[in-house]
Amino acid sequence: MPVLSVIGTQWGDEGKGKVLDLMAARADLVVRYQGGANAGHTVVVGSEKFVFHLLPSGVLHEDKVNVLASGMVIDPAQLLREVKAFADRGIDLSDRLRLSAAAHVVFPYHKALDTASEGVKGGLRLGTTGRGIGPAYSDKAARTGIRVGDLYHEAFHERLEANVREKNRALQALYDSEPLSFEEIYSEYSEYARQLRPYVTDTYHLMMDALDAGRYVFIEGAQGILLDLDFGTYPFVTSSNASVLGIASGTGLPPKRVGEVFGVAKAYCTRVGEGPFPTEISGKAAEHLATKGHEFGTTTGRPRRCGWFDAVAARFAVQINGVDSLTLMKLDTMSGLSEVKVCTAYEIDGKRTDRFPVGFPSVADATPQFETLPGWGEEIDNVRRFQDLPDAARNYVHFLEDFLRVKIAIVSVGPARDQTIFR
Ligand code: GDP
Ligand code: IMO
Ligand code: MG
Repeated sequence: MPVLSVIGTQWGDEGKGKVLDLMAARADLVVRYQGGANAGHTVVVGSEKFVFHLLPSGVLHEDKVNVLASGMVIDPAQLLREVKAFADRGIDLSDRLRLSAAAHVVFPYHKALDTASEGVKGGLRLGTTGRGIGPAYSDKAARTGIRVGDLYHEAFHERLEANVREKNRALQALYDSEPLSFEEIYSEYSEYARQLRPYVTDTYHLMMDALDAGRYVFIEGAQGILLDLDFGTYPFVTSSNASVLGIASGTGLPPKRVGEVFGVAKAYCTRVGEGPFPTEISGKAAEHLATKGHEFGTTTGRPRRCGWFDAVAARFAVQINGVDSLTLMKLDTMSGLSEVKVCTAYEIDGKRTDRFPVGFPSVADATPQFETLPGWGEEIDNVRRFQDLPDAARNYVHFLEDFLRVKIAIVSVGPARDQTIFR
């Protein structure tokens, strides 16, 4: 199919970066469509590790065009830092990075408001990444946002001045924070605008022209469905549609042209930040997953909460994203557990259900109902064929496939490209 998407099916950090990099060899364009520098996607090549916050994970493949589409919120300083970091490592992006003129710009006041509002929320804190994502998308919805293309328009000065004035009032009155200097932000962002100019374009027509010419467009999701603004565990979510649902609005691609969907799932669950997590565990098994899986946030370094695979949430993720096949990541991390559990139902208000609740905040009250399966002791990071996995590991994969009613096409057994089992 000419359009292929790689989408997170949990709370982010499933391993989307690795999957995208594996597939990108077949792509012409790699497109990110939502979110911003809250994402942290990791690709490991040999002894080298690359982390992407804004750039798409296709960057390591030489001849790919990398697109930051209109649905994103762009922190120009972070983007320029990333471009420079790759240039320093010998990866030149000057001819193959395209930034949508319609993407929104993240300003210092967005980050200041993000951090300040989290600081006063107490128990209602979301545990955001502090990258200004919520405030930037709020401005977009309030129609006070400044888009990348606006940076080159004479009205930029006036609009930025008005925004800084208003945000300073909020920062001072609500959070007792220091006001920000309009002059400093204006001159800083005018310089960013100059440096970014070669990349800025109309990415909608770029993408549609590429498709008309028979090229392959691969779409990279950030976060995951359970952090989706509309269908995740609201309000403990991010501020964009971190699922297939955001592709059309975030790129302009007609929904009926969204082709093949690869869902990415970790073999267990993690969550970084606050919010409901029915299968969360503590104790020995949690420590095993956290330590062996190096479960620390790629963007913030915070420890990730760990738990068993939530098949109720995953079945919902498969259905709502129209997942065609699933990639199961980090199965190697589970080696050494004497038994493994899968949540196949929730009990909510004394009632058993295998449906992920949409709307009512009842996920927070769900008691997981587990099936227990045998674990396996053998390390599997050197296994390359499905039939060479221990019986219990294969049994685990088959169990998930049967419950989710979807093919698990790839099993990943380590961060490196070759630590991958194609079935
Ligand atoms: P993303 O945000 O979905 O791209 O995922 P992250 O990069 O935030 O987190 C995934 C982490 O797991 C990264 O450090 C990857 O290098 C690593 N990783 C990916 N696949 C595997 C795997 O199969 N096994 C192990 N042990 N690590 C993996
Ligand atoms: P990738 O693309 C995991 C979480 C934050 C917080 C919530 C809201 O690497 O999978 P935000 O800063 O977006 O307003 O924070 O969402 N979060 C992520 N968790 N992976 C991510 O991205 C995330 N991006 C945001 O921890 O709970
Ligand atoms: Mg990540």
